Amino acid sequence: MNLPFLPLCALLLLLSAFSSADIRPGATLHASHLNDTWTSPNSTFSLRFIAATPTSFSAAITCAHIPIWRAGGASPTVVDSGGSLQFLTSGNLRLVNGSGTILWESGTAGHGVSHAVLDDSGNLVLRNGTISVWSTFENPTDTIVPSQIFTSSNTLRAGSFSFSLTKSGNLTLRWNNSIVYWNQGLNSSVSSNLTSPSFGIQSLGILTLSDPTLSASVVMAYSSDYAEGSDMLRFVRLDSDGNLRIYSFDRGSRISTVRWAAVKDQCEVFGYCGDLGICSYHDSSPVCSCPSENFELVDPKDSTKGCKRKEEIENCAGVVTMLELQHAKFLTYPPESPSQVFFVGILACRLNCLMGGACVASTSLSDGTGSCYMKVPGFVSGYQSPTLPSTSYIKVCGPVSPNPSASLNGGDDTSCKLHMWIVAAVVVGTLLGLVLLQVGLWWWCCCRNSPKFWGSSVPHALLEYASGAPVRFSYKDLRYSTKGFKEKLGAGGFGAVYRGVLANRTIVAVKQLEGIEQGEKQFRMEVATISSTHHLNLVRLIGFCSEGRHRLLVYEFMKNGSLDIFLFPTGGHSGRLLNWESRFSIALGTARGITYLHEECRDCIVHCDIKPENILLDENYSAKVSDFGLAKLINLKDHRYRTLTSVRGTRGYLAPEWLANLPITSKSDVYGYGMVLLEMVSGRRNFEVSAESNGKKFSVWAYEEFEKGNMEGIVDKRLVDREVNMEQAKRAVEVSFWCIQEQPSQRPTMGKVVQMLEGIIEIEKPPAPKAGTEECTGESSRNVSSKVVAVPPSSSSLLEKTGCSSFVSGRTVEKSSLSARNVEIASACLLQSEESET
Ligand SMILES: *[C@@H]1O[C@H](CO)[C@@H](O)[C@H](O)[C@H]1NC(C)=O
Ligand SMILES: *[C@@H]1O[C@H](CO)[C@@H](O)[C@H](O)[C@H]1NC(C)=O
Ligand SMILES: *[C@@H]1O[C@H](CO)[C@@H](O)[C@H](O)[C@H]1NC(C)=O
Ligand SMILES: *[C@@H]1O[C@H](CO)[C@@H](O)[C@H](O)[C@H]1NC(C)=O
Ligand SMILES: *[C@@H]1O[C@H](CO)[C@@H](O)[C@H](O)[C@H]1NC(C)=O
Ligand SMILES: *[C@@H]1O[C@H](CO)[C@@H](O)[C@H](O)[C@H]1NC(C)=O
Ligand SMILES: *[C@@H]1O[C@H](CO)[C@@H](O)[C@H](O)[C@H]1NC(C)=O
Ligand SMILES: *[C@@H]1O[C@H](CO)[C@@H](O)[C@H](O)[C@H]1NC(C)=O
Repeated sequence: MNLPFLPLCALLLLLSAFSSADIRPGATLHASHLNDTWTSPNSTFSLRFIAATPTSFSAAITCAHIPIWRAGGASPTVVDSGGSLQFLTSGNLRLVNGSGTILWESGTAGHGVSHAVLDDSGNLVLRNGTISVWSTFENPTDTIVPSQIFTSSNTLRAGSFSFSLTKSGNLTLRWNNSIVYWNQGLNSSVSSNLTSPSFGIQSLGILTLSDPTLSASVVMAYSSDYAEGSDMLRFVRLDSDGNLRIYSFDRGSRISTVRWAAVKDQCEVFGYCGDLGICSYHDSSPVCSCPSENFELVDPKDSTKGCKRKEEIENCAGVVTMLELQHAKFLTYPPESPSQVFFVGILACRLNCLMGGACVASTSLSDGTGSCYMKVPGFVSGYQSPTLPSTSYIKVCGPVSPNPSASLNGGDDTSCKLHMWIVAAVVVGTLLGLVLLQVGLWWWCCCRNSPKFWGSSVPHALLEYASGAPVRFSYKDLRYSTKGFKEKLGAGGFGAVYRGVLANRTIVAVKQLEGIEQGEKQFRMEVATISSTHHLNLVRLIGFCSEGRHRLLVYEFMKNGSLDIFLFPTGGHSGRLLNWESRFSIALGTARGITYLHEECRDCIVHCDIKPENILLDENYSAKVSDFGLAKLINLKDHRYRTLTSVRGTRGYLAPEWLANLPITSKSDVYGYGMVLLEMVSGRRNFEVSAESNGKKFSVWAYEEFEKGNMEGIVDKRLVDREVNMEQAKRAVEVSFWCIQEQPSQRPTMGKVVQMLEGIIEIEKPPAPKAGTEECTGESSRNVSSKVVAVPPSSSSLLEKTGCSSFVSGRTVEKSSLSARNVEIASACLLQSEESET
């Protein structure tokens, strides 16, 4: 401004000599003439076009440069340079684009409007004589100024956000007209039944609520500079970030300052960062980002527009898993359905959301309320801050790829540090390279042809093996014996398994553990425990490798693979069938192996994952239980970030206490065993549903047939023309029904199971096992226990991805299964074993 000592409003006063107070019909403002204005008598306010961008303009009432009302509403309606604001002779006020399109009008044609007046308070009134027909104060956009009366029929809008006054006198901020993220009513000591409340800002800087039933207006908020300053315009504005603020505009310095904000913590504004966006603070200003690299910004130029998944859950070809966000919550405000709030622990909060088709994210509060919020598909608004006592999970199409932590605080300071690190790394790397080169040369010259070099470690290791202690292998040895991890035997629970041949020609199975973040010492302790667990019916651990991040276990090789191949023949293996005798001896062997784990070995082990896939058969078809003791290897805390892929499904074998978030005990293994036993008799997956089983799960149907005495119906059809000991089969079926009782206390111990199978003790008639133990079907999950109402109804499309529906149809899921399954198992087992230790 060229006239620094003359305030703008005074300047306008000079100009106002050229404009009359009344605006006559027929007058027009042109967007191309920004100097054209209709001003108030003392020139405080003027109606004019202001430039939104160099080529787009909006018609606004302003004081100096501050717009307090805009034609066409909050999400600014802009015109090109050919646009105009026309006060038609019909009495209509109309905003027209250059092309002639009508973008907005006041709708006052035919109301006898004779003229318009912009008064000194900033109100533009269309009048019939002295009667007000329409005014901008009654049709506010996003701002309230002093002397403007805001009633319950008015609304301020900015984007998806709105501010309104309820009929009962509460001030509310809403998102999408529904979610109330701020709600302030009268102090209860002054509350009364209001009749027609109104709200406004006093020029001193006080927000007040008035009502005919109140003797005086009630102060709702003070601006921090209230009653200060002389030439101030104070106004309330709903900003585009969803917060309602008081601004003080100093006409002298032409600076406006925020003096109060309704929502103290901007990140608490619902939807501020858009759908799936996460709000956090960088220094003191809120920033929006996406939860992880599995997401991308909807609009790369505007992070508040929210995020979208790079791979949608519905189209997920891989593994659906839960991304963990520490110290984060998903905002939950009324009227969010109370049925989405549950009282369950953190693991159940995560698992239930993962399993529930109608859940996209969950928040587990650590504030003492024990609450868990499940978010249904729609709009999810996140907040992450080191001070938040909650952990959140969000469904992603795995694998999880966390945000690079540097990007959040990539200031000059850190980038400088980063440079130093790079320089240091280059120097160290170069030195290391030189040393390696020397060592390489030395090896090339001296040792290349010496057999001693290769021989030094392996025979020594094998000596240890012979003595029974676990052998420590180097990673190089194992890579060599597995020919570079070429021949994959399968993808077991805790990692892939490869065939290998040791130097002494022993064939082994090498399991490459995934996601073990444990320290070397602890890992070796667990390995020692596992390898000291010897039993004829347990797979023997030969050795291990713990080198850097590599953790591998070397097991004896089981020639005949896992039991499921024989029980549920798939295309490739349909020729292999076990006769009744073998089945019964495998059942007994398995029971003995588990009994040993539970009752006879020094550190008792709960297996946690009994299923046919974990029962291996040696060359004589005798049963060996595998994968025991591994759950303890997974470090709960570190592990929750990681994803394990390629997990086989175990849904049908999970005891109800898994879902009910009750303690997991050895009785949970008994449950899994019961299911396996039933499958060995029937050759059918326990959760299989077919026309033959009347559309019921096989285990449910089998009990009904058992009650009717139809044992033949239950026994595997493929055994009909072979010899089946029906007395043994009946015993096995009875035992299995005892094992799958809903109440853990009703299930027998594994020791008792062995005795029952052997016919040493009498078996009472088993009561009906509850139907609702299969957590994959929404229908049955209701029955499990009252705590399990937390499982949201499942959607079939998601279950397809998580593997559940595949089980229903009876197939084994090899790849696209629940990656999280094991983490769950591991954590629960860990908790359990910690409990039992104390
Ligand atoms: C508007 O007025 C300013 C001075 O008040 C003048 O410099 C400018 O040329 C005018 N613009 C137009 C388009 O009339
Ligand atoms: C106004 O007209 C311009 C071109 O004349 C056009 O690009 C713009 O989209 C129009 N605006 C609206 C809101 O119709
Ligand atoms: C305008 O006001 C006059 C008197 O004040 C009234 O008679 C007339 O009906 C009004 N016109 C309209 C269209 O309401
Ligand atoms: C213009 O009028 C308003 C309301 O009467 C008053 O508050 C304001 O101080 C006046 N402004 C000037 C520059 O006279
Ligand atoms: C906003 O609300 C409307 C209806 O009230 C609904 O149809 C729409 O999906 C909501 N928008 C979002 C982004 O949730
Ligand atoms: C009004 O706001 C108060 C908080 O200031 C709240 O306790 C009350 O429930 C609200 N009333 C309604 C009807 O929303
Ligand atoms: C309500 O107002 C009374 C006096 O007006 C005050 O003493 C009391 O602290 C207020 N209560 C709340 C919750 O603001
Ligand atoms: C408000 O109205 C209810 C009944 O409509 C009455 O019970 C209550 O006492 C009233 N409260 C006040 C403060 O008048």
